[in-house]
Amino acid sequence: MDVLRRQERNGIKKERNEAMSFKIAIDGPAGAGKSTIARRAAAELGFLYVDTGAMYRAIALGLLRMGTNVSSEAALADALSRIEVGLGYEDGIQKVFLNGEDVSSLIRTEEVSNMASSAAAKPQVRAKLTQLQRGIAEENNVLMDGRDIGTVILPDAQLKIYLTASVETRAQRRYKELCGKGETAIFDEIAADIRERDYRDMHRETAPLRQAEDAVLVDSSELTVEEVTARIISLVRAKRQKNA
Ligand code: DC
Repeated sequence: MDVLRRQERNGIKKERNEAMSFKIAIDGPAGAGKSTIARRAAAELGFLYVDTGAMYRAIALGLLRMGTNVSSEAALADALSRIEVGLGYEDGIQKVFLNGEDVSSLIRTEEVSNMASSAAAKPQVRAKLTQLQRGIAEENNVLMDGRDIGTVILPDAQLKIYLTASVETRAQRRYKELCGKGETAIFDEIAADIRERDYRDMHRETAPLRQAEDAVLVDSSELTVEEVTARIISLVRAKRQKNA
């Protein structure tokens, strides 16, 4: 009887939460345009944008700074106990904090990218961030992007998008971005790096990158940022009308 009542209460609570917060999950490989598009769509919808990759990157930076051997479970556990990741928003822009320090721009290096990909394969690292990400989504209308949002973090998201693009397109975008910053870039190396990271993200045991069964597939290879953003907004509006 108690169990039943508890279930009913949970059911009611769940319905209320669902009525209160609308969750959008966007997953996909690196370079598919997730963060640019997610940021724009969230701003247009008035949703909170949560870039979960930035959280993995902040942990990676912490691990690099401590020189942690991530292959050792004990060393990783010890390092994680000394790492605190936080999110904040300034003029609607997400900031990520590592033990209180704003590291938003320090986490965008290739070294951090590679460490983030290795660290993200570790169940201890994922467990630490899962709780934090779910907590944020419970209290806000969120548009969250990452690799396991639709499959693991927010399986009950009202809208799930799997955003992808060919390796060549993604490498081309990254190449242009680096050249634009005046950095040396070799297209073949970028493409090889993308392939390697895709493989690691898709083949790890814990929460691998894959399209959720109920996710809408969007291939951005031949689409502009504006076109993809408009498509996502129209999918959200259609869902919200249906749920209203
Ligand atoms: O999206 P990004 O490149 O900033 O992500 C950095 C790394 O973190 C990338 O290798 C994938 C991993 N990641 C993850 O495993 N799960 C997420 N939800 C987000 C990112």
